[in-house]
Amino acid sequence: MKKITVIGAGNVGATVANVIAQRDLAREIILVDIKEGVAEGKALDIWQTSSINHFNTRVIGVTNDYLRTKGSGVVVITSGIPRKPGMSRDDLIRTNASIVKDVVEKVIKYSPEAIIIIVSNPLDVMTYTAYLAARKDSRKVFGMAGILDTGRYRAFVADALNVSPKDVSALLLGSHGDTMVPLPRYTSVAGIPLPELLNSEEIERIVLRTRNGGGELVNLMGTSAWYAPGAAAAQMVEAIVDDQNRIFPVCTLLNGEYGLKDIYLGVPVKLGANGIEEIIELNLNKDEMRMLHESADSVRDVMKTLDDMHLFDEK
Ligand code: NAI
Ligand code: 2OP
Repeated sequence: MKKITVIGAGNVGATVANVIAQRDLAREIILVDIKEGVAEGKALDIWQTSSINHFNTRVIGVTNDYLRTKGSGVVVITSGIPRKPGMSRDDLIRTNASIVKDVVEKVIKYSPEAIIIIVSNPLDVMTYTAYLAARKDSRKVFGMAGILDTGRYRAFVADALNVSPKDVSALLLGSHGDTMVPLPRYTSVAGIPLPELLNSEEIERIVLRTRNGGGELVNLMGTSAWYAPGAAAAQMVEAIVDDQNRIFPVCTLLNGEYGLKDIYLGVPVKLGANGIEEIIELNLNKDEMRMLHESADSVRDVMKTLDDMHLFDEK
């Protein structure tokens, strides 16, 4: 791909740019931040690893210069404030919704065809915000959370069984929050269903730790995680750039799937060159469906804050 833009050169944005540069996924990565010098410095630092790590992707940092992002094929949006200890994801909405709306409008002006991946929190509602701001096909506007949450879940399963995380395959639905829905029935280790390997108490412990996975790191570091979030967003970029048709849980606009409408929520999709190529509907049992709908209810609660902001009212 010719050009990929990453908005926000903080912990997550710089990590995404670093991973996609190392994989040579684009000729050029434009890293944008609002703080003078931050994107320029981090881009230069990443570019100076090119001869050491053997990649060609040119990484360029700019301060608020959207003209430089013109013609991007994929744009990853990480701008916003991260969660601090004691702050819920929902507390972030007022600040981050304004930032996401503003940034998406500028991105679309110069790259109307771009596929947009949102990372800013609270993820499900920020992705909806981006969709409203972008005014484009929802298959090209979606959010990253499911790969991260599933990554955490798979790491915990690998630890519990002392097996390679490469052999753990899993699926997780719902919001990027405490109501996310890990699916032990859809988790396997080298093809062996998880319930044959761990008892229900052990599985429940892993599910709870996964639900609190973001908070666990916030409590340890005083800010939220970046290595796994950055790697997860980069994996989505790679699936698009290489037209891989990978199946990942992605925060997607639902239009009747799973009995839900007009809401962005994590579900499995096929990800390829056109963005979301297909939404996959699982045959959920009653309990799983109930948890997914509870998760949707929690997102709708946060949506009320967005509605109260009247960001998208016609003037
Ligand atoms: P950070 O504070 O390290 O970086 C954010 C960057 O955005 C800063 O450099 C800031 O100057 C920049 N920024 C703020 N307003 C901007 C604007 N209008 N235009 C351009 N840049 C702007 O934060 P971090 O850790 O990188 O997290 C970024 C966001 O990603 C947060 O909202 C965080 O909660 C979220 N996040 C989401 C995850 C997910 O799974 N979806 C996982 C981890 C973080
Ligand atoms: C995370 O899950 C807080 O969304 C951030 O690490």
